[in-house]
Amino acid sequence: MKPSSRDRLIIALDVGTRAEAISLALTLVPFAGWMKIGLQLFSAEGPDLVRAIRETGANVFLDLKLHDIPNTVARTVESVVGLDVQMLTVHLSGGGEMVRAAVAVAPEGLLLLGVTVLTSANSETLREIGMVEDVSRQVVRLAGIGADCGIGGVVAGAQEIGALRNAVGESLKLIVPGIRPRGSEEHDQKRIMTPAEAINAGADYLVVGRPITAAPEPAIAARKILQEIDSCVFRTDCH
Ligand code: C5P
Repeated sequence: MKPSSRDRLIIALDVGTRAEAISLALTLVPFAGWMKIGLQLFSAEGPDLVRAIRETGANVFLDLKLHDIPNTVARTVESVVGLDVQMLTVHLSGGGEMVRAAVAVAPEGLLLLGVTVLTSANSETLREIGMVEDVSRQVVRLAGIGADCGIGGVVAGAQEIGALRNAVGESLKLIVPGIRPRGSEEHDQKRIMTPAEAINAGADYLVVGRPITAAPEPAIAARKILQEIDSCVFRTDCH
C-alpha cells in the first residue's frame, strides 16, 4: 500500500535552536509525517532534541551524512539506533566497505539512506573535486554501490529519478530534496523540481525546507504542498 501524502513529506528543520525546531515541528506535524534534523541543529542541540521531536509524534530523519572510516561509521550508526530515529544518511562516496559496515549494524525499522550528489552541486563542482562524470552518471554509479551494499534508499535530485529507476528499479526508496513550488525562491539549490513534478517522476519522499520553514505562514505553505502531492497521488497515472 502506498503511504499517505502526509507520510511522504519530510520537513528539513534547518534552524539553530531547540525552541524554533519544536515550535516548527508542532506547527507542521499535522501536514508532514517526518522531521529532518541536520548537522546544524544536531550540533547545537544534540540527542535530547531528537527525543523531543519524536515526542511531537513525527518520525525523525537524522541527516548526519556520515562519511568516515568504516569502523567509525558503524559505531556511529549504533549510537544513533539508541535515539529511535527512522531514517539516517551516509555518503555513498565513502565507498562500498563503509556502506556495508553501516548496513550491517542498522536494525529493521531504520531506513539507511545513501547520499549521492548533493543537490547544491553541479558538473562544475564535480570537476572542481576531480570527478569527470556528469552529475547524473555519478548519481547512478553511487546508487549502484548503495544497492549492492543493501542500503534502503538514496537521496538524489529530482532530475536523476528516471535514471535511478532505470538503474536500480523499485528496490530503493528515492528521497528527493531541492523541491521548490512554482514561483518560489531557489536559494542555493541548483537542481530543483516542483512537488508535483517530483512525485510524478517517481519520488517516494520529498524533503522541503525553506519554502515551508521560511514562509510567513509555514502551516499554509505546508498545506499547499500537501495538496499538490495529494492532487498528484490520487491520479492513477501518478506514482
Ligand atoms: O531549504 P531546502 O528545501 O533547500 O532544504 C533541503 C534540505 O535537503 C537541506 O536540509 C539539505 O541539507 C538537504 N539535502 C539536499 N541535497 C541533498 C541531500 C540533502 O539539499 N542531496
